Amino acid sequence: MTSPKLNIVSKFSSFTKGAAYVVGVTTKGDKPVLADSPIELSGIAQLDLASLGVKSAAEFTARVSAPNGAIYLLVGLGNKPLSAVTLRALGGVAARSLADVKEIVFGLPTEDKTQTEALLEGALLGRYQFGAYRGLNKLSVNQNAKLTVVSAFKPTTAALARIEIIAASVFATQDLVNTPANDIYPQSLASAIQKAAKGAGVTVEIWDEKRLAADGFGGILGVGQGSSRPPRLVRVEYKPKNSKAHIALVGKGITFDTGGLSIKPAASMVGMKYDMTGAATVGQAVIAIAKLQLPVRVTAWMCIAENMVSGTSTRPTDVIKIRNGKTVEVVNTDAEGRLVLADGLSIASESKPDLIVDVATLTGAASIALGNRYTGLMGHGTGVEKLQAAAESAGELVWHMPLPSDLRVSLNSDIADIANAKFGANGGMLLGGLFLQEFIGKKAKGDELIDWAHLDIAPSANNDLAPWGYTGKGATGVMLRTLVALAESYS
Ligand code: BES
Ligand code: ZN
Ligand code: ZN
Repeated sequence: MTSPKLNIVSKFSSFTKGAAYVVGVTTKGDKPVLADSPIELSGIAQLDLASLGVKSAAEFTARVSAPNGAIYLLVGLGNKPLSAVTLRALGGVAARSLADVKEIVFGLPTEDKTQTEALLEGALLGRYQFGAYRGLNKLSVNQNAKLTVVSAFKPTTAALARIEIIAASVFATQDLVNTPANDIYPQSLASAIQKAAKGAGVTVEIWDEKRLAADGFGGILGVGQGSSRPPRLVRVEYKPKNSKAHIALVGKGITFDTGGLSIKPAASMVGMKYDMTGAATVGQAVIAIAKLQLPVRVTAWMCIAENMVSGTSTRPTDVIKIRNGKTVEVVNTDAEGRLVLADGLSIASESKPDLIVDVATLTGAASIALGNRYTGLMGHGTGVEKLQAAAESAGELVWHMPLPSDLRVSLNSDIADIANAKFGANGGMLLGGLFLQEFIGKKAKGDELIDWAHLDIAPSANNDLAPWGYTGKGATGVMLRTLVALAESYS
């Protein structure tokens, strides 16, 4: 998609035909009233908003005619104090409801630069639509637009460029994830990232199935062996000269998850094209971090395979060997994400980074526990607190979950070092985390494990409920902005 153009002006001048002017609705007593705005409101100041059904609730929008063939969009400011988080959401709500409008001018109350930036970021993110497969009405999803914020708090040119770089990577992630699995398979996902990385100042290295075998990646190979489209491991690395720390990112890249021979029921298979979200997110995060030239070395490992059913698929109870030498009994071939990630976490540990973060649509249990918006966060060392702080600054929702060691017995295998699942076990999200923890290597000195955070994005990667804030339906691009904020926290 072509990205909209961002502008900031300090004063409103005049109404342009066809443009939309966004104005807030708040309450006075218990009545809805227009919020203060830098935009000329005299034409609508007399309206009895209550009788028109206008509300101050968050997510409320209504269109009203404005002078000169323009329109106003009235948006409910909600009942929370204005902040970067609420303004990002308001920008998104307005942008989504004005998807057919090519010029949007925001006259919402902002108190500082951070809020103006958040408003623009939300508006930009809210413009996203995926039109690649709409043969007849592609034009209706042309997202070219001019987005202007009227505010005395003017972000720097660098701040605007930062928003555009980050949004471009969020959109690229959403495009990859929304693309159906007949077009996104291990090889094509690897090539797509290679292409996206051109000119960003990163190196991309791809392991094909022969090299995966030679280098001992039994997890990725075991999951991918049932597919006619062989697996891949992709390393995307940004290594600036002035690097202050080294972050390794590991992403689950199952381009389609049928469950394998432990096959999923038909209804559960819908949505499994989203199972490569973690890989797309970590790959695109490195590209964004490189374009922002942050002084941090970041290495992403995209662990990519298609989990299919065939005569060559891994059988339940087969034993495979992971890159770090540990053996795994594959009790359930549908718990495949942890197998490809085990290889990824092992190789990521070999270079002894300061922090490892994995991103994965790992468990249905995470959605049962957390719903549709929160990402499950687990980890050890400084991992959890680092990711909590980064998510907070990006305005994304994470929830810290425990890794109770008493549950580890559920993964005992009679013949291998560990089993990948246990039928009937409770705490599926936590068991997923406990399994992954076994593949985190030790720090360069001593016996301590490398700091680690695990993000289970099964709840949050795909929005199949109502749109909210800047999040539309389908791929959300969640956690990309958090990973960028994490890298920024080392700068
Ligand atoms: N890709 C799924 C997890 C998932 C489910 C993501 C729903 C998004 C929405 C994963 O590979 C899986 O099937 N996990 C199993 C694990 C179990 C077999 C231990 C699950 O959650 O049921
Ligand atoms: Zn699965
Ligand atoms: Zn999966």
